[in-house]
Amino acid sequence: MTVASFLAPALLLVLTAQALHVAAKCPFHFGRARVDENVGAVLQAEPRRMLLTFDEAAVQKLDINAVKADLKALFVDSQESWPADFGHYGPLMIRMAWHCAGSYRLSDGRGGCDGARQRFDPERSWADNVNLDKARGLLWPIKQKYGDALSWGDLIILAGDTAIESMGGPILGFCAGRIDDADGAASLPLGPSLDQEMVAPCSVNGECEAPLGASTMSLIYVNPEGPLAVPDPELSAPQIREVFSRMAMNDSETVALIGGGHAFGKTHGACPTGPGPNPMQQPWNPWPGTCGEGPMKGKGNNTFTSGFEGPWTTNPIRWDNEYFVNLLKYDWKVYVGPGGHHQWEPVLKEDADPEDDLPDIIMLTTDVALLKDPIYLELVKLFAANQTALDIAFSHAWYKLVTRDMGPYSRCLGDQVPPPQPFQAPLPPPPAKIPDYKAVTKAITKALRVISPALPYDPVNGKPYYGALFATLAWQCASSFRQTDYTGGCNGARIRLAPQKDWPQNVAMDKVLKVLEPIKDSFPGLTYADLIVLAGNTALTDAKAKGMRFCGGRSDADSDEPPVTVTPQRVFNDKLVQLKDNAIVMGLTFREAVALKAMIRSPSQQQRLGYSGSWTDNPTRLSNEFFKVLLDNDWVNVTSAAGQLEMKAVGKEGVYMMPCDLAIKWDPVFAAIAQEFVTDSTAFYTAFASGWNKMMNADRFKGPAGNECKS
Ligand SMILES: *[C@@H]1O[C@H](CO)[C@@H](O)[C@H](O)[C@H]1NC(C)=O
Ligand SMILES: *[C@@H]1O[C@H](CO)[C@@H](O)[C@H](O)[C@H]1NC(C)=O
Ligand SMILES: *[C@@H]1O[C@H](CO)[C@@H](O)[C@H](O)[C@H]1NC(C)=O
Ligand SMILES: *[C@@H]1O[C@H](CO)[C@@H](O)[C@H](O)[C@H]1NC(C)=O
Repeated sequence: MTVASFLAPALLLVLTAQALHVAAKCPFHFGRARVDENVGAVLQAEPRRMLLTFDEAAVQKLDINAVKADLKALFVDSQESWPADFGHYGPLMIRMAWHCAGSYRLSDGRGGCDGARQRFDPERSWADNVNLDKARGLLWPIKQKYGDALSWGDLIILAGDTAIESMGGPILGFCAGRIDDADGAASLPLGPSLDQEMVAPCSVNGECEAPLGASTMSLIYVNPEGPLAVPDPELSAPQIREVFSRMAMNDSETVALIGGGHAFGKTHGACPTGPGPNPMQQPWNPWPGTCGEGPMKGKGNNTFTSGFEGPWTTNPIRWDNEYFVNLLKYDWKVYVGPGGHHQWEPVLKEDADPEDDLPDIIMLTTDVALLKDPIYLELVKLFAANQTALDIAFSHAWYKLVTRDMGPYSRCLGDQVPPPQPFQAPLPPPPAKIPDYKAVTKAITKALRVISPALPYDPVNGKPYYGALFATLAWQCASSFRQTDYTGGCNGARIRLAPQKDWPQNVAMDKVLKVLEPIKDSFPGLTYADLIVLAGNTALTDAKAKGMRFCGGRSDADSDEPPVTVTPQRVFNDKLVQLKDNAIVMGLTFREAVALKAMIRSPSQQQRLGYSGSWTDNPTRLSNEFFKVLLDNDWVNVTSAAGQLEMKAVGKEGVYMMPCDLAIKWDPVFAAIAQEFVTDSTAFYTAFASGWNKMMNADRFKGPAGNECKS
């Protein structure tokens, strides 16, 4: 569980040193061949997350305690087909839940157990997920019993929660509402796959960098044996910190999770020959095991998952802080275990009573690492001395681990949802008094063409015009939304606050807000969030866009709230990848993403961003002209005075596009859409409105699938 106490070294090798050798032998395998069969499965196709049925009413009616009771009975009913360690499936369920959730990464919000893509490749064949097919198999009768009321995602997490609880551990609550994906496509960027190579490449497997979450392809976090399997705890500690932070975990959460997780269960590595072929290689009998003989081959005491062997505590089916006590009580000596991997055994400290018995437990390099870092060591001491502190830290960190990918509190269902947590970025309720939005719209329309002292105006034909800046502000506010983890968006108007206000792409947005401030002040109950969106809509409608829908009721985040973790849209060297990946992360269709590129642009704002100008000096009208200019001209790379790479129309003065605009022309799928928009302006206006309205309202959650702006 550090998490990969369960990684399979044989498979690790497949992915590293021996990749070519093994690839040549296997008909099915990870790595290039699979990649080639699935060329750009996500990035070339329309960005679509295929979902299975989701019946919100059924989920609301689900008796969660009844499911828990069924799970508890199942945990202690050991089956011959897969005998339970210590007569209890709890630890196996915790590992499954953790590995389902632990794929979450902050960089683009991908991963996590919402979608339950652990059932599909690539995740199901990950080295860290060895034998989790057996765990899901054990849950199948319960899945059948509750049907659509209990998604696989909810069931997997609830099984982990219930396992912790049934062994005496603390649980904060349960946020139901995970919607199952119909395939594993949304996990392709987690790798290994061609999508991952484009979106998040890893040059040295074992030292993979952000935006990847894990250090090692097909593990959840880091190699528990140590970086690149070198059993050096001092090298391991900084890697643990780095990788857990990419998964949104700080030091106390990290230590509580590692030690809390390792309070339960054991590692498995009965022999050095590995677990056998994975589900992709042998779907009819995945991971049959290679240790032992006869009917118990690969099972029970012959199980192979991570290749390490042994428990961390003397009672692996009871919640306590013994793990931390053990870490401190003994010195630890490295040896090679029966699975052929470095692991650590206890030895008596010099000042110990030589008559003391040594318990039959082990530690991994990543466990011993917690003693080698001064901050981690203090936390180990705290949790060894104070069970209550561990209970609090672990229950909160666990809830965050399994819920972080589900977005705000308002997406949670069920009667066991704990109060909003900091990671859910809770907003205050919107003001009770609703302003007269028609009157606000009128005031904004007037402000479009009246000089404001807050910002030297963008003259168009010698007259003031703020429309392009209002639209830009609304877009910058709303386009931080990610459908991958339901974070960001304009609700809360966090573009006013750090860190977003300081993002380079938001330069001068504070001044545009100042232009709008008199309107905010003259309408009690009007929030910045509503005002920003309405100003964008109003500017676009003034510019002849059609079908802008406004749905009020947003609230503003308190300006003294602790900084919320949001990340700007990712920038790629390859602008084709950028356009597609950003669209997918935002939840836009490719048509919508292409249409939105034609948004009215302020030439002065383009200059503030470091470009020489825009493709038109008349941004007062939204039209398909953008695509005509894009397709009908030849473009050359130039560098602006401020050092930005931009594209200049050949033979035209002052006509500029950005490289990501040109990506529309370079990509055949996008170019086809652009051509259609040139010849059919209705198609353009429709796609533009669809994308714009989607982005403005994407964060108005009402349950996992609903939106308060859609009837
Ligand atoms: C880590 O985050 C948790 C939850 O926000 C917080 O309670 C805790 O104090 C943080 N720990 C550190 C070391 O910052
Ligand atoms: C596994 O080994 C332990 C310790 O030797 C033993 O107590 C237990 O009965 C064995 N379990 C099985 C299923 O053989
Ligand atoms: C143990 O930790 C809890 C929770 O942080 C705290 O309230 C309590 O005072 C601590 N107990 C001791 C003895 O330090
Ligand atoms: C122009 O810039 C694009 C985008 O960075 C780059 O891919 C391309 O190679 C450049 N072309 C030339 C001729 O420099």
